[in-house]
Amino acid sequence: MNPLFSEIQIGRHTLSNRIVMAPMTRSRADDDGVPTDLVATYYGQRASAGLIISEGVFPVALGKGYVRTPGIATAEQMAAWKQVTDAVHARGGRIFMQLMHCGRVSHPSLLANGAQPQAPSAIKVEGQTYTANGLQDFVVPHALTIVEIAAVVEGYRQAARRAIEAGFDGVELHAASGYLPEQFLSTGSNQRDDEYGGPVENRVRFVLEVLAAMVDEIGGDRVGIKISPEMNFNDIVDANPQETYTHLVEQLRAFNLAYLHVALFGATFDYHAALRPLFTGRYLIGSALDKNTAESLISSGQADAVVFGSAFIANPDLPERLRSGAELNAADKNTFYAPGPEGYIDYPTLSAEA
Ligand SMILES: Cc1cc2nc3c(=O)[nH]c(=O)nc-3n(C[C@H](O)[C@H](O)[C@H](O)COP(=O)(O)O)c2cc1C
Repeated sequence: MNPLFSEIQIGRHTLSNRIVMAPMTRSRADDDGVPTDLVATYYGQRASAGLIISEGVFPVALGKGYVRTPGIATAEQMAAWKQVTDAVHARGGRIFMQLMHCGRVSHPSLLANGAQPQAPSAIKVEGQTYTANGLQDFVVPHALTIVEIAAVVEGYRQAARRAIEAGFDGVELHAASGYLPEQFLSTGSNQRDDEYGGPVENRVRFVLEVLAAMVDEIGGDRVGIKISPEMNFNDIVDANPQETYTHLVEQLRAFNLAYLHVALFGATFDYHAALRPLFTGRYLIGSALDKNTAESLISSGQADAVVFGSAFIANPDLPERLRSGAELNAADKNTFYAPGPEGYIDYPTLSAEA
């Protein structure tokens, strides 16, 4: 039997296969962060995944980092997400919400009243970001005070609660890609001299506090975390990522999380070999997988489940294609973040092609 199609328990859920859809920002929400009707169609089409992880969703308004990205901070946003989870559940699928607070990877034009983005330290991201008014330079962020950090942690707690109320089966903390949690973890963006900065024990504090709040609110068996050591995206740099992530993952054990999701992009060290033995929950591997690699990761026991990104954009029936060995449609990068249905809900299934 194909190893991808054996059942697996992840947290409190039994998944029908080990193929997970990666969290992918698709920018199909309105300017208030409310997912449009297209979003329910899109995720419903992909419900044959063992588990869908939603695109990054801002837990609090100040966590928004890109145009047309969705939130889970208002009743209107929750109601729209309920349509999405209903569509997935109606087709027998499971879906977690990825909570993504972009921190300094944002811009005043994306935030209410032109607010300054928040970060551990007042260190700006080098480069430019795409806003409603085209490309603009990143700005120097506001360094969070201790009181403000507590409010952000509380924001994650409330967001986890709202995600569950909107029908999600769990939440994933986005602690990769240079966003707020990774800004705390990394020496390049965190130069605080209080209990949130300096030695690794302090730099992991924010992530652990966020996890503790979410676990307290909805249970560790409905919480996962994504990390990407050495990804170096969004100008994130850490002086000693091996130490940072080893220490972080050791600390995760206490939470009995549903899973640890590790996506590596050009890492210079075998993090999977180092981290997997440190973690007691399910271990998910993603990035640049194909059918053969995915199958061997499962059959060798290196991963409990495998995460596919762009292949799921272009192939709503990816599990069926992996089972049958059918050809995969190629994803069109031009429509990754474009508004509207094109390149979003119009990729054909095998039966539509026939
Ligand atoms: C269009 C697009 C949007 C993405 N947005 C997110 C995101 O919101 N959160 C996240 O954790 N990763 C995001 N990623 C990264 C994917 O989750 C995944 O790690 C990456 O695509 C590698 O997997 P793949 O090679 O199978 O595509 C995005 C990737 C793509 C292609």
